[in-house]
Amino acid sequence: MNLTDNTFVTISSVAHYFPPTVINNKYFENYLDTSNEWIVKRTGIHERRFALNGATSDLIIPAAKECLRRRNLRPRDIDCIIVCTVTPDYQFPNTAAVVQDKLGCRNAWGFDISAACSGFVFGLSTAASFVKSGLAKRVLLCGADKMTSVLNLNDRNQAVLFGDGAGVCIIEKSDLPNYGVIDQVLHIDGSGGQYLKKVAGGSFLPAWHSDVKPEDHYIHQEGQTVFKNAVTEMTNATFNLLRKQKLSNKDITWFIPHQANLRIIKSVGEKLGLPNEKVVVTIDKFANTTSATIPSAMSMLWEDRKLRKGDNIIIASFGAGFTWGASLIRWNPYEA
Ligand code: ACO
Repeated sequence: MNLTDNTFVTISSVAHYFPPTVINNKYFENYLDTSNEWIVKRTGIHERRFALNGATSDLIIPAAKECLRRRNLRPRDIDCIIVCTVTPDYQFPNTAAVVQDKLGCRNAWGFDISAACSGFVFGLSTAASFVKSGLAKRVLLCGADKMTSVLNLNDRNQAVLFGDGAGVCIIEKSDLPNYGVIDQVLHIDGSGGQYLKKVAGGSFLPAWHSDVKPEDHYIHQEGQTVFKNAVTEMTNATFNLLRKQKLSNKDITWFIPHQANLRIIKSVGEKLGLPNEKVVVTIDKFANTTSATIPSAMSMLWEDRKLRKGDNIIIASFGAGFTWGASLIRWNPYEA
């Protein structure tokens, strides 16, 4: 991303929203052949949030309002909305249009990005490129998923793994050279598509097709294949990014990996040689919220006053596609 070398782009605000209903592991013990002990040991998840009504845009709106408030902006100050999600409100119109209308961002254009768990990493690069090129001044970048809309709650292999949530950022120019969104490494490999997918609802198997089986509307995944690839590729992407930037693992202040399984997170952290306290974990309370895991984790770090100007944050993700990548952000918040 070197469109104009002297334009730097930053995350000027971040916020998140999780629906209020907490579902603990005991909930699943009541009707599935599973246990709190298995779930905690194999995934690190203790609880998650389920949205009992509404759609993905309803998760985004509270986070977006708070994000604007923190940056002291009005909806009309946003000129582009990007929604990263695999659970859009509709196939069309896109969720960005729904958000634009509900928030009243009357000067914005926008679109959705579908890259599963890598949605936010891909979206951040897209938003940063738009700002760098002058195509947008302020992008509202939303990572949100209502995973319960595609979750088979009667399948223990997936029911326990996911939750609903949203994280929202504002991406705009930075006055400070070499701060903000610095660099990224992005990948896609469609040969991995078979291991993590939802078959029905697209043009391949439309929702009205008489042959569609209920399970075609749910997540299908080969957990161990996804697990192994996630560990390898998040580690490689991070090392490649560090190499590109002539940095070492010691330069990382915070590592925010996508939150799919605590064992994946720990394994990547160990391979990168990072102490536990630098590796951000939210999966215990919120499970896998797909596009929302990384921006919501960043927002929680900010709320906990743990982010300092100049901190090197690496975000890394792996998800359906397969898609994966990593980005380097040098923290430079808006200061009112
Ligand atoms: N409770 C009890 N037993 C369970 C449960 C459960 N909730 N889930 C699976 N098991 C069982 C399996 O049925 C299997 O039983 P069997 O041996 O009798 O067949 C046994 O546990 C072992 O299954 P494994 O798949 O080997 O378990 P593993 O340790 O690999 O954990 C898991 C499974 C948690 C899915 C893990 O592989 C994983 O996290 N993979 C990555 C998932 C991921 O990143 N997904 C991304 C999704 S993003 C998206 O969809 C947009």
